[in-house]
Amino acid sequence: MPEYKNIVILTGAGISAESGLATFRSSNGLWNNHPVEDVATVEAFQRNPAYVHDFYNELKKELVKAQPNPAHLAITKLQKEYPAKISVVTQNVDTLHEKAQNSNIYHIHGQINQAVCQNCGHIIETFGDVDTQTVCPNCQVMGMMKPNIVFFGENLLYMDKVDSLLRTCDLFLSIGTSGVVFPAAAFVQIAKINGAHTIEFNLEPTSNNYYFDQHIFGKAGTTLPAFIDELIKNNK
Ligand code: APR
Repeated sequence: MPEYKNIVILTGAGISAESGLATFRSSNGLWNNHPVEDVATVEAFQRNPAYVHDFYNELKKELVKAQPNPAHLAITKLQKEYPAKISVVTQNVDTLHEKAQNSNIYHIHGQINQAVCQNCGHIIETFGDVDTQTVCPNCQVMGMMKPNIVFFGENLLYMDKVDSLLRTCDLFLSIGTSGVVFPAAAFVQIAKINGAHTIEFNLEPTSNNYYFDQHIFGKAGTTLPAFIDELIKNNK
């Protein structure tokens, strides 16, 4: 019998760092060069949609080139070789979990390759540019497409599903997130209170210290594959 039956893996920008993508709050982080209030709030988009579209169109060019690293690939190995329900709840808007063939992925902060029509709700998938001239293929209205990115002040996506996953998991892994943005930063607490074993994979301790049973420090591209190999071996 496997040690765990329901595993939730929460990922943040740190899992994509070794794929060459900038995190948000490090020294050369994304938010250092583009303040959140200029590109990641509802007000910013209302104030200057063209500027916000440009930011995400540029980011898209970066993200589309990135390839999954051993941390993403280790999750696929776990999902294939460990007989448990394994869900990936990601704060990342890149598609590296998909490129690594992970399954059961929930992008709670949205996805860079999607845009949503504010007139009819239709979602398009594209790595191409979206801007104030883009016509919605569903309702044919122009200029109402918004990057399908959850801006600060907006509700996260898939929260009902994520809440039930957190309440029923027996292993919660947090990979490469600073644990400072809520509600994702509180997920470990929900998992812990509901009986899960909780492990943090990061370069350094984060502010969520007391809710983690274990801390595995180091680069996720090294630490996560090692942990997953051990988990699979112990289940043989
Ligand atoms: N391996 C493991 N952890 C790493 C690595 C690595 N190779 N590189 C960086 N990290 C860790 C950093 O120590 C940091 O704790 O990843 C974390 C990245 O933190 P942030 O830059 O704050 O990114 P994240 O936690 O994903 O931000 C959460 O904030 O602005 C919003 O929507 C945005 O989804 C984002 C959310």
